[in-house]
Amino acid sequence: METPDPERLIVFDTTLRDGEQSPGISLNVAQKLEIARALEALGVDVIEAGFPAASPGDLQAVSAVASAVAGPAVCALARCHEGDIRAAEQALRTAARPRMHVFIATSPIHRRHKLKLTAAQVLQRARQGIRLALEACPDVQFSAEDATRTEPGFLAEVVTMAVESGVRTVNIPDTVGYTTPVEYAQTIESVCRALRSQPHAVISVHCHDDLGMAVANSLAGVAAGARQVECTINGIGERAGNAALEEIVMAVRTRHDRWPLRTGIESRRLTGISGLVSRHTGFTVPPNKAIVGANAFAHESGIHQHGVLGDTRTYEIIRAEEVGASTSLVLGKHSGRHAFENWLHGRGVTLQPRALESAFQVFKAEADRAGPVDDRRILAIARAAQAAGEWRVLDVRSVGAGKACRIELELQSRDGRVHRGCGAGTLPEAVAAAVSGASGVEIGLLTCAHELQSIGDGTQASARVEVRIVDTVRSGVAVAPSEAEALVHAIVDMLPAPSGRLEVTS
Ligand code: KIV
Ligand code: ZN
Repeated sequence: METPDPERLIVFDTTLRDGEQSPGISLNVAQKLEIARALEALGVDVIEAGFPAASPGDLQAVSAVASAVAGPAVCALARCHEGDIRAAEQALRTAARPRMHVFIATSPIHRRHKLKLTAAQVLQRARQGIRLALEACPDVQFSAEDATRTEPGFLAEVVTMAVESGVRTVNIPDTVGYTTPVEYAQTIESVCRALRSQPHAVISVHCHDDLGMAVANSLAGVAAGARQVECTINGIGERAGNAALEEIVMAVRTRHDRWPLRTGIESRRLTGISGLVSRHTGFTVPPNKAIVGANAFAHESGIHQHGVLGDTRTYEIIRAEEVGASTSLVLGKHSGRHAFENWLHGRGVTLQPRALESAFQVFKAEADRAGPVDDRRILAIARAAQAAGEWRVLDVRSVGAGKACRIELELQSRDGRVHRGCGAGTLPEAVAAAVSGASGVEIGLLTCAHELQSIGDGTQASARVEVRIVDTVRSGVAVAPSEAEALVHAIVDMLPAPSGRLEVTS
């Protein structure tokens, strides 16, 4: 048998088996297939597709994945029972690279209270299961369930028997998420010692997150000599879940100094597959989740935004693009002027220093008072600051509806003069004509959208317009208590300073 490459970490994904065992998750065959194809594109080495003896649906899903996937090995789980092994054999019939995964619990508490078998009987049943599995499939993996609560001597005896019988991979699960990194490293070292004379055997880690240490334990096991890591996308799995694939892969990649190993994972696909698994399982990803959470590369505080604008490495240890994400500067009450100006630049808005300061102050006050300020509102604030000092809207009166609206308005120019205008037609036409009449600026209305929205107990109107003003196309947004006022502000905020030829039309 070939000795495995000591610098290669085998990624065994069990999203479709242990992940699907999470209370509340049930994937249909089509969903399992879509995830399996995405796992193949991601570059995992093994896809554990299900537990065929659990239900006819699971058998069908494993069989569908086995037929659809060519790159990774496709694995099916079975207890050391003949019926389970036959079901797994049937499900894997069409697999290009089948792997059968047989397991039995080895810890005293499982032996006594679940299996009602002595240690010798467990060893005997494991031996029989492995023999049957090897008759059905050349690539067999054996797991000693609850290995971390098993007597070290008995664990060594079981895994030695497994490898001597022909098993290629022995998995040492921390089934109940009880171990710690130091203890788990010792367990893996002891298994490595027991298998010293069997260099072809791959030792695998499989950790649960009951104490929040699944990833740390897995990585400690890898540092101690394991070369296969079992994990799931987004860390889904029984109870508190399994070790998250994306965290393990990125830890190994980012801290190559600690784990000088390679995986076959295309890390740019991590964010995409995380979203896919979240959509199909209905398990949302917390915003602060490492690697794939919405905030993993987002910065709101002024100090951090300033640093990131200088060099993302000031506050990011992974380039967002490496995992298929992007760095974002979120504007909020902790943001600084620098980020505010940068955000506006990114949307084509440049403000003079005075206007920038005034817009920034309005934005900070709103963010402090009411929490997140939405993008349209920030743009409206900036436009208002841009126009401040040129024109102020004093009064807007609107009558009529549909195509028969009439608008009368009063604007004040910076020199204090009041200018009146009126217009008729649809609401946007009437507003454009009235603003044009009051300001003396020719306005060509190109596109326009306006709506009344419910906000808490009341309403708020928003408007977005695109106009041609003296050969330049400009777009503006505004929110105001009524649609007529929102339209007036959206246009007035874009007006240039009054020309010498102002006419008052009413
Ligand atoms: O957690 C566990 O022990 C398992 C085994 C079946 C590998 O999932
Ligand atoms: Zn498990």
